Amino acid sequence: MGRVPTHIACVMDGNGRWARARGLPRTEGHAAGEEAMFDTVEGGLEIGLKWLTMFAFSTENWRRPPDEVRYLMNFNEGILTRHRDDLNRKGVRIRFAGRRDWRVPKRLLRHMDDSVALTEKNRRMTLTICFNYGARAEIVDAVKGIVADGLRPDQVDERAIRSRLYWPDMPDPDLVVRTSGEFRISNYLLWQLAYSELVFTDVLWPDFRRENLFEAVLEYQGRDRRYGGVKR
Ligand code: IPE
Ligand code: IPE
Ligand code: MG
Repeated sequence: MGRVPTHIACVMDGNGRWARARGLPRTEGHAAGEEAMFDTVEGGLEIGLKWLTMFAFSTENWRRPPDEVRYLMNFNEGILTRHRDDLNRKGVRIRFAGRRDWRVPKRLLRHMDDSVALTEKNRRMTLTICFNYGARAEIVDAVKGIVADGLRPDQVDERAIRSRLYWPDMPDPDLVVRTSGEFRISNYLLWQLAYSELVFTDVLWPDFRRENLFEAVLEYQGRDRRYGGVKR
């Protein structure tokens, strides 16, 4: 328990393949991912994790068939209505990161806002749900802010960019866990991941449980983080 990461970011991947392996429609894989998501939150609470971030829908996921996109919008609304009271009781602060564009249904936006308002005073853990999130879009939005604020070139530094990301107070992830055997970042938190430890597992997201999170933390604890320096 000595070196529990402060912030873990998950890429919840493999729902479609989990469903296909069972002869089910892809959407059943998303439905099965709900238990994985909240068991992971429980596991995080158990080890005293302060920040947990989960990739739920990317700016690129609009490319999926309309039926699947529609399902995911309703599904994410359902997740909030089913879990926000429990998360609130457990001291979890819910946040969202991503663009609020016209494609996100108004009703979902309302549920997102309600969940944020309900839990904003909680401090045991911050659960950031990346929804309609793309890291390049986030950086573009930060640059737009810099231009809108009229900064001169000599005023543009890392702090100027960081302070204009979606959640400037969020510490960089110590550990990123991606499921389903894919070895890529897929436009997730590009700025924030500069020195994160990456753990990849073949487990498909719907099969992921807190034990898998603990295994990833153990692997993280065996890593030597040097940040460009030398081993002491
Ligand atoms: C992750 O599972 C969920 C989302 C991206 C919304 P996928 O739906 O990407 O599942 P695979 O990768 O096709 O198996
Ligand atoms: C990343 O998974 C996005 C989410 C988990 C929401 P994808 O399944 O969309 O990523 P790619 O297409 O395999 O890179
Ligand atoms: Mg995928």
